[in-house]
Amino acid sequence: MKQLSVPILSIEKIAKATYQIDMRLEKDHLEKIKPGQFIHIRVHQGSEFMLRRPISVADVDLKLNKLSVIFKVFGRGTEQLTQLKANDLIDLIIPCGNGYPIDTINYNHALLVGGGVGVPPLYYLAKSLVARGVKVTTIIGFQTKEEIFYLDKFSELGEVFVTTNDGSFGTQGYVTDILKQEDLNFDYYFSCGPAPMLKAVKNYLHYFPGYISLEERMGCGIGACYACVVKTEDGKAQKKICTDGPVFQANEVMI
Ligand code: FES
Repeated sequence: MKQLSVPILSIEKIAKATYQIDMRLEKDHLEKIKPGQFIHIRVHQGSEFMLRRPISVADVDLKLNKLSVIFKVFGRGTEQLTQLKANDLIDLIIPCGNGYPIDTINYNHALLVGGGVGVPPLYYLAKSLVARGVKVTTIIGFQTKEEIFYLDKFSELGEVFVTTNDGSFGTQGYVTDILKQEDLNFDYYFSCGPAPMLKAVKNYLHYFPGYISLEERMGCGIGACYACVVKTEDGKAQKKICTDGPVFQANEVMI
């Protein structure tokens, strides 16, 4: 891990209460970031918000030396992040946590299932899988149409299904409704999103190998607060999401 101070290229609102920050990083730093890892952002230098916020990596562009993260505003810290502007310097620790082990598993067709703030890390994952010749099908779920982002970007990489809870776009319901309705062919799945969604996905796909990311349940992000502890599936041990995860094998931890 490295602590860096990097310039912001842009900050943009991309959906309801959802922002994307693009930052410029040197290629040798970007090359070390794996899909599913997160960065640890100091919210604002010199302000009352000295704590860092863990935010998952949404994209890495090695040609443009660019790192992108997407976050949802849910409190004063993330509200403070929206006040940043181009050319501001931002203090980061990268890369944090363990990502998806995409080079050590054997598969041809991956199913990606994401919900809400769990969608961003799946984009860099999808891009990385396609670059390795893996076919990708994606299911993304949101509460409502105004919260949808990156549909066009995922569509460039493979087939995409969208659900909204209120039915304002795509299929009304949950990502698991697509699993039930569609005859999907895949040999491995990767999922990220709120715990109830992950639990439902894991239960429905229990006969498939897969990885889940529990990043939504992180607090401090550095192993200090114990807010992120989960039990292993056998109930005999505990794992910290921020340092042992956020990505785990689906059958490794209890949700
Ligand atoms: Fe604080 Fe993991 S988020 S210990």
